[in-house]
Amino acid sequence: MTLLDVSRVTRRFGGLVALNSVSFSVAKGEILGIIGPNGAGKTTLFGVISGFIPPSEGGVRFDGEDIIGISPDRLVRRGLIRSFQVAQTFADMTTLDVVTTAALTRRPIVEAVDYAAHVLRRVGLGGKEYQTPGSLSLQDKKLLELAKCLATDPRCILLDEVMAGLTMAETEAPIAIIRELNSQGVTIVMVEHVMPVIMRLATRIVVINFGEKIAEATPDVIIKDQKVIDAYFGDELDA
Ligand SMILES: Nc1ncnc2c1ncn2[C@@H]1O[C@H](COP(=O)(O)OP(=O)(O)O)[C@@H](O)[C@H]1O
Ligand SMILES: [Mg+2]
Repeated sequence: MTLLDVSRVTRRFGGLVALNSVSFSVAKGEILGIIGPNGAGKTTLFGVISGFIPPSEGGVRFDGEDIIGISPDRLVRRGLIRSFQVAQTFADMTTLDVVTTAALTRRPIVEAVDYAAHVLRRVGLGGKEYQTPGSLSLQDKKLLELAKCLATDPRCILLDEVMAGLTMAETEAPIAIIRELNSQGVTIVMVEHVMPVIMRLATRIVVINFGEKIAEATPDVIIKDQKVIDAYFGDELDA
């Protein structure tokens, strides 16, 4: 069953075409990977799906319903949430405050605080409830971003480079969390530059280059696709 359907989405910023008629769909329970060079339009795509950026053209359906024009907070209540590449929080909030705010999506305040503490422990941030997000390491900031998403009890999560900048060893914690979530039925769409991670997790991969979808296949097929190698792996393999 299709949970998320992106249909011919175009987004222009002035003269720049950040997304050009991009279409794909995500089945319920899937882990879809999205890859592409910097500036390809991946974050813009997540912005459009999650209600932050109106598309210039095209449509997005979630659970069978047209969601264009629906605000991000209402989409979160429907079970669709994105993470942010650069975590946006207020300096004087604790990690517990941040995750409690997310937990209030579905819970009254008396339950939200306990639930937020539970989610923080689940991602491995137990004991750091009263630290400010700014004081956390990069790895912990990424785990906090995951905790914020989890606390809303999502049906579908859009993860934007939650492993960027982490060492291979540091990616093990978020990988385990993503696997566990997925095994509980949560659908995952993830933008990730760390190829070994995408290869391990994704059931399917969509490749975007200069705002256009240039390939869509299983990881083993993608890694051998000449268009993808030229667009994306070329520099890495030459280096
Ligand atoms: N709000 C914006 N205004 C103008 N240009 C933007 C805006 N957001 C993104 N862009 C441009 O759109 C293109 C795609 O950006 P982005 O979606 O962030 O790419 P990616 O996440 O794949 O690196 C880039 O050229 C970027 O500079
Ligand atoms: Mg991006």
